Amino acid sequence: MDELRPDHILQVGLGFWASKTLLSAVEMEVFTELAKHPQDLETLRGRLGLHPRSAGDFFDALVALKFLERRDGVYFNTASTDFFLDKRKPSYIGGMLEMANHRLYPFWSHLTTALRTGLPQNEMREGGPNPFEALYAEPARLKEFLRAMTGVSHTANLAIARKFPWSGYRTVLDVGTAQGDLITQVTLAHPHIEGIGFDLPEVGPVFEEYVEANRLSQRIKFVPGSFMEEPLPPADVVMMGHILHDWNLVTKQMLVRKAYEALSPGGAYIVYESIIDDDRSTNTFGLLMSLNMLIETADGFDYTGADCSEWMKQAGFRDIRVEHLAGPDSMVIGIK
Ligand SMILES: C[S@@+](CC[C@H](N)C(=O)[O-])C[C@H]1O[C@@H](n2cnc3c(N)ncnc32)[C@H](O)[C@@H]1O
Repeated sequence: MDELRPDHILQVGLGFWASKTLLSAVEMEVFTELAKHPQDLETLRGRLGLHPRSAGDFFDALVALKFLERRDGVYFNTASTDFFLDKRKPSYIGGMLEMANHRLYPFWSHLTTALRTGLPQNEMREGGPNPFEALYAEPARLKEFLRAMTGVSHTANLAIARKFPWSGYRTVLDVGTAQGDLITQVTLAHPHIEGIGFDLPEVGPVFEEYVEANRLSQRIKFVPGSFMEEPLPPADVVMMGHILHDWNLVTKQMLVRKAYEALSPGGAYIVYESIIDDDRSTNTFGLLMSLNMLIETADGFDYTGADCSEWMKQAGFRDIRVEHLAGPDSMVIGIK
């Protein structure tokens, strides 16, 4: 009994304390405020409008969680919160955390219901439209969602731009491109590439604003459309990031076939997300992401590299391989 300790159980069981503390800090723009200049307790409390009872514990909890530093009573961002959570920097990834705070945090309180019923617990819970329709009906929500996608995908996008052998390919299509960070990073890193972002028409203005901000409007265009109804535009490389996990098996296989049809001979198909390890026992993030798909979609689920390789093989792809990208993310590559 001596070596048995409850630490891990308690740390995970009460993990929402730490999670919500960080999400509220992002909501109140603590890191954006401190990026302007370090501040003492009273100044920071006044700027953010916190109650005197809460402020010291809140900021010091952020110190203990290693999201802030405190020296001689003055609070500073850490190097990583300054880089990733200052809203005014292009490196801001807080969009994902803003969406986690507004949507996922309340929806996940219904996880037990989802586990028992198999039914989504987001806007669709009350019989609302599918999540993309619900998000896309309101421009502010749409933008929050698309920026959240950039936040969750940016590190993997940089890894794909760095690791894939781009020199033999020219036209690159990103399917379900959202704000367009993946095609932007690939095009920024490889001057010979011409990019296409494909997504629902409502996404166009947010995509074009992002591409313009990266000065790539001459080399990347947006093609509006639905991959449910139309063929994909032709390209030498077709990419799908966090697309297949939104849908059931039949739709997943249909999308893999559409990628095959859109590719030129010798072209490459890149599927990426938090691909679950084949033993389904170590990629915690991938497995939890699949539960997030239970909450968020009608019948989507995440999958292993072996699953995806099999769907690609059935569609006709050859030389299929799984390559790790960063953190929980991997890509599966197949050649036509
Ligand atoms: C989970 S997001 C992934 C975004 C991005 N690829 C990434 O990895 O960050 C799914 C994307 O698929 C797009 N999408 C959903 N249904 C679609 C459809 N029928 N046709 C085209 N795009 C669609 C959404 O608009 C959204 O941008």
